Amino acid sequence: MAKTLNVGLIGYGFMGRTHSNAHRKVTHFFDVPYQPVLKTICGLVEAEAKAFADKWGYESHTTDWRKVVEDPAIDLVEICVPNNVHATIAIAAAKAGKAVICEKPLALNGPQGEEMVAAVEKAGVPNLVSFNYRRVPAVTLIKRLVDEGRLGRIFHYRADFLQDWTISKEVPQGGMGTWRLDVKAAGSGVTGDLLAHCIDTAMWHNGPITSVTAMTETFVKERKHAETGKMEPVGIDDACTFICRFGNGSMGNFESTRYARGHKAKYTLEINGEKASLSWDLHDLHRIQYFDHKDEGIVRGWRNVHVTDGDQPYMKNWWVPGLQIGFAESFVHQLADFLEGMAKGKPVGPTFKDALATQYVCDAVLASGKSGIWENVKQIR
Ligand SMILES: NC(=O)c1ccc[n+]([C@@H]2O[C@H](COP(=O)([O-])OP(=O)(O)OC[C@H]3O[C@@H](n4cnc5c(N)ncnc54)[C@H](O)[C@@H]3O)[C@@H](O)[C@H]2O)c1
Repeated sequence: MAKTLNVGLIGYGFMGRTHSNAHRKVTHFFDVPYQPVLKTICGLVEAEAKAFADKWGYESHTTDWRKVVEDPAIDLVEICVPNNVHATIAIAAAKAGKAVICEKPLALNGPQGEEMVAAVEKAGVPNLVSFNYRRVPAVTLIKRLVDEGRLGRIFHYRADFLQDWTISKEVPQGGMGTWRLDVKAAGSGVTGDLLAHCIDTAMWHNGPITSVTAMTETFVKERKHAETGKMEPVGIDDACTFICRFGNGSMGNFESTRYARGHKAKYTLEINGEKASLSWDLHDLHRIQYFDHKDEGIVRGWRNVHVTDGDQPYMKNWWVPGLQIGFAESFVHQLADFLEGMAKGKPVGPTFKDALATQYVCDAVLASGKSGIWENVKQIR
């Protein structure tokens, strides 16, 4: 019999839905050692929290996250709120002995992330940061292929994450929906929001990033603040391009912007090794492109691999070969792995500590964007 796991989820927005959906599905598709019980949902507006509780089947709702953290019945706290609230809640939840899943990026910056890592490690509680793209089966398969040495020595890792939703200067900063444009709530712009995903996946595939040089730009310098109603300077990076060195000697090339007209969420990555190359595109997330130089010359070319077969990551738990899954299922996989790790007392990555390494890269990128010089990346000890 699976043990009951009482869940308190803070934030009923975009991520509140993906995490709730994962809880609703996980036991139907994976043999996990816990039965999640949706105990309490928390968010800023009482009527919205209640409507969310009714729709998703939470037993109760609140507008005060402290009530979730202090509730002795809650086993797992999930943090799906803007970035500036992550640290306070995560530290309080760890002190209260709860397991914690926190949305990315871990924190507003490295020093704040260090406090969060110290809190979960001192309390000895299971912890995970929701860099969910690791658990898109095609991205997980890339990790397996790299680890098996099929690419040989890696020369290049490149990734892009392109959007276009902030081109209009009428988009406000701050408030619901647009907190990402307010540096006080978000910590940074595309670097912490989008590149953090690319960096987490890149270091998972290809090891630590050691130094960076970056160019950042804020195209719209002033926006009305949704809370004050006043025009205020914009403090986030609207676009960021950086190059970097990995510890294994390979070179990295990363770009993110919210000003690439026509692109909504175009996350792509490509790895070039001595023996083979691999690429992936979020818009076609169930496929990888794979070029293997050892193929016979007359038929050598890019293979288009449909990652839906039972021997490919996570897929045996879903439908039948050839039928695909999507973005939402990456959160189900993340939860299934986390619950498995909890039962075995084993950390499941990306832990808070893994996410701190990503935070250090983001800090170095933002510092280089200002200084215009190469910056070394602080490494996790
Ligand atoms: N993993 C991913 O792919 C992914 C995608 C989007 C967002 N995120 C991350 O998830 C987090 C939330 O983003 P979102 O898009 O869901 O935001 P959102 O604006 O859709 O929802 C934010 C929620 O937080 C609640 N909230 C805000 N301040 C609060 C407080 N002090 N106490 C209690 N509740 C509070 C709001 O009521 C709202 O329900 C961010 O850290 C973001 O970076 C991750």
